[in-house]
Amino acid sequence: MLSELPRFYIWTGWLAFAIFVPLAVTSMDFAQRMMGPWWKWLQRWTYAAAVLTLLHWAGLHEFRNPLGAILHFAPLAALEAYRVWYWHLRPPRRQANPG
Ligand code: HEM
Repeated sequence: MLSELPRFYIWTGWLAFAIFVPLAVTSMDFAQRMMGPWWKWLQRWTYAAAVLTLLHWAGLHEFRNPLGAILHFAPLAALEAYRVWYWHLRPPRRQANPG
């Protein structure tokens, strides 16, 4: 395990895995109540794990055929693009006419 660690596609896999473990361990309601705002903070590490998984997969075989990884990542990227649009870019709603 240690001798393989310097390989890009290996350490990205391990790092993603290391992020997924605390997410899985704290996934129940009890953990959510105990952790308070830290639960949300931990959940946000999902983004890093997702990107690391993409790199892990695309980096297999020296990035020679990353299409599968990119295609599988596309729905996530589309969802994230929608969120950015929804929260930051969409035009403000017109206020209802009070009179
Ligand atoms: C625990 C650390 C990990 C190690 C050591 C590791 C190692 C590997 C290796 C050696 C391959 C290549 C297999 C082959 O050549 O056929 C691979 C492929 C892959 N791994 Fe990981 N991995 C790890 C974690 C993860 C995680 C956390 C994910 C996603 C949640 C993941 C997703 C994938 C995917 C999607 C492939 C490509 C499968 C394919 O299309 O053939 N891996 N991994």
